[in-house]
Formats: sequence, structure tokens, C-alpha cells
Amino acid sequence: MNMSTVKESLPEPAENNDRLKELKAFGETKSGVKGLVDSGISKIPKLFIRPHDELADESNPGRSNIQVPIIDLRGFETDDDHRKKIINDLKQASKDYRIFQVLNHGIPLSVLDGMLDGIRRFHEQDAEIKKEFYSFDRFKKVNYASNIDLYLSSAADWRDTLTISLLLSDHVEPDELPAICRSSIIEYIDQLTKLGELLFELLAEALGLKREHLVNMGCGRGRTFVCHYYPECPEPELAMGTSKHTDPAFLTILLQDQIGGLQVLKNNQWIDVQPLAGSLVVNIGDFLQIISNDEFKSAEHRVVANRVGPRISTACFFTGVAVPPKIYGPIDELVTKENPPIYKDFTVRDYINKFFSKAIGKSSLDDFKLQV
Ligand code: OGA
Ligand code: NI
Repeated sequence: MNMSTVKESLPEPAENNDRLKELKAFGETKSGVKGLVDSGISKIPKLFIRPHDELADESNPGRSNIQVPIIDLRGFETDDDHRKKIINDLKQASKDYRIFQVLNHGIPLSVLDGMLDGIRRFHEQDAEIKKEFYSFDRFKKVNYASNIDLYLSSAADWRDTLTISLLLSDHVEPDELPAICRSSIIEYIDQLTKLGELLFELLAEALGLKREHLVNMGCGRGRTFVCHYYPECPEPELAMGTSKHTDPAFLTILLQDQIGGLQVLKNNQWIDVQPLAGSLVVNIGDFLQIISNDEFKSAEHRVVANRVGPRISTACFFTGVAVPPKIYGPIDELVTKENPPIYKDFTVRDYINKFFSKAIGKSSLDDFKLQV
């Protein structure tokens, strides 16, 4: 992208009042970014244009050839030596990249495709039916909204999201889910729950803990599924699909379609997490950073907007036990005199409330650091 053109074509910052009015009007349509695109716009509304300094700062000149690690999980249960190798690979990938892709994870391709299809059907159905689910209450079991941080962020993201939250209760009845994607979601939740447990077992061993340590802490509980729809964007160089952030969770398992756009920050450079058929993307979240006392760190990532669309993805956040409130903090076995605890104890609800009290992307980790 030619930055000088971008700079010249940027409008002056809008009057705050005007921006507020625009945000309100957009929120009240309850039809999200998809609604805008369907109305036939050829320029993006101002509220989606990223701030001048961010656009000017866009230092990533293009595609980098680096790939995030790909880990083949086949054979983890049959052969002890092979399991050790997989655990070692997971450890290296978690430390060096904080994000990786897994293959042969045991989830049938038909379940993955079914989930992506279901998400597409939800977002592409009659707008009036979608509106029934429209809500900014992030603890609600099922809700649909565009930009949960609409009034806090400096620019809105080019994305709509259906959220299924099992944070406050561990179970969802099929008839609580949108009819149009019910069965695919039920099946996907079931499969992801099992894969989550396996990954927490392997990661526990990668941290030098007993296999069941993280599962026993409930790290695999409290799953939240965010089901994203990124419509085609007429001016992708001015907007973001998902702004840079880390995830408020122990671990995230992400399914993306073949369009691409997900990037991770490594050594100050954005690297593409390239779509790989049949794979799932796994990234370390803030909570694992805290309980591992910085042994594993959370991945900073984002999704660029794209002229091609819609792009469909779903992230499953493993947020742990929120009800009744469970206290999490650096794991005793991982702290020593030389490596004292860096973080305070926290509850999932406190952390998530803190996370959503500001624009997504402003990390909350610092708020939970012990004073030094
Ligand atoms: C998220 C996220 C990436 C994607 O939902 O936290 O990072 O590819 N999503 O949609
Ligand atoms: Ni994320």
C-alpha cells in the first residue's frame, strides 16, 4: 500500500458529537456491517476509518514468508516417544510464536465445514430474525452484535459476530441456539471441548506439570464461541477486520476459512497465519500467561480487512471457571525464589470486566501485575 496516498485521502478527525451520532445510528440499525454492504455502499463510513497515526504506522510492507509452526497431533496417544516429541514441539511453538496450527486433531472435516456453513447461514439469513439476538450483553448465552466495544474503540472493526457463551453456565439447550445453525454448533461445541482437554493435557506437560494439572484447574471450562462474519470491504486499506489484541482466555482454538487475513505479531512484524485446509489455529491467551508466570505469553494478533469476502471464522475461548468464582494466579510449581510471581490472583469475571471496560486491544495484563 502506498502510504502517501492514504495520508492525503484521510478525512480530518470528525467532531466527537458527529461520531457519537454516527455510532448510535449504526448500532440502532441492528444489521451490522453486513447491513451496510447490502445497502450497496462503495466507500466505508467514517466510523470505520482507523486513526491517522495507525494508518501511517502500518509498517508491514507486504507478505512475509515466515509461517507459524504446524504441529501434527497424529499418534499422540499410541506412542510415548512420539507424544514427548509433540509436547516438545508445542512448547517451542508456544514460546517462540505464541500461536500455531494443529493438524490431525481428530475433528472430522465435515464438522469444521458444517460450523463455517452454519455461521454463514446465520449471518446471511433475514435481518429481522437476526435482530432478535442483537445484544451487547457479553455474558448472555446467545447474542449477535457488531463491535462489542463500539463506543470505546477509536475505529469500529469491519465485522459482525454471533456469540455463544458458556461462561456462566456450562450447558446450552439446542432450542436456545439460532435455529438456522443449531445442529452444527452443538456438534462443534462437543468436539472442541474434547480437543481443548487434550491440548490442556499436552500443554501442562509442556510446562513440566502433571498431565491433568490444567484440566483440574478447570482451564478447559467456560467456553465462549465467537462466530465472525467479515463482509467484503470496499476500502480495506482504511479499516481493520479485527483490531490488534490478545485474548482474555487461557487458550483459543480458531477455525478460519480459506480467505486469510489473520496475522500475528512476532518481533514487531505482522506474519500471516495462512489458511491450511483441515487445520485449527491455537493461540496462547492472557490467563495462561498469568498462571505460567510468563513462561508462555499471549499472542498479539489481528485480522486485516479484505476486498474479498465474506470471510468466516470462529474462535473458541477457553476462559476457565467463572461460577462460582474461582481464584486463578501463578501456579505454585512454576514460581521460585529466582522466578517470583509476576501477577496477582484474579477471577475470570473481574478480568473480563476489566478487558471490556476499554477498547479491545488495550491489554489488561498490566492491571494484574504485582507492584515491584
Ligand atoms: C478473536 C480473533 C480471529 C479471526 O475472535 O479473538 O482473534 O480470524 N479472531 O477471526
Ligand atoms: Ni483473538
